[in-house]
Amino acid sequence: MIKLEKPIALAADHGGFALKEAIKEHLQELGLAYQDFGTVTGESCDYPQVAQPACEAVVKGECGLALLFCGTGVGISIAANKIRGIRACCCSDVFSAEFTRRHNNANALCMGGRVVGAGLACSLVDAFLNAEFEGERHERRVNMLKEIEDAQATL
Ligand code: RB5
Repeated sequence: MIKLEKPIALAADHGGFALKEAIKEHLQELGLAYQDFGTVTGESCDYPQVAQPACEAVVKGECGLALLFCGTGVGISIAANKIRGIRACCCSDVFSAEFTRRHNNANALCMGGRVVGAGLACSLVDAFLNAEFEGERHERRVNMLKEIEDAQATL
């Protein structure tokens, strides 16, 4: 049984809205808390605008991990990775969803509402939430990602 200390941040544009709603039901069944940063309808909206507050909640420590959705999962993953401290991975296979936690210490999983069905998305979410960062050599590499962020901030 998955246990998380902090709520999961959820965000989607219109292309990921239906999948976000399906994942909310899944999280409720698992008894996991979440905070929904929108969108709240299927009306057209812009994925950077929903990604930013959800990812900032993770960076500030208000939420533990983020689950993000757009049509492909790609746009919202690019937006998420612009936020310092976010390591977002767009996944449509269970192996990557598990290993991006284990090896990359990813804190955001991105999925495409036009790419994966709700059943597969639930399996991706379970793989992501159940996996733990392995540290050791992977910690060195993740630290290098932070060094790149720090170097970019001074350009
Ligand atoms: C919206 O039509 C679509 O471009 C968006 O959801 C996403 O797929 C972008 O990467």
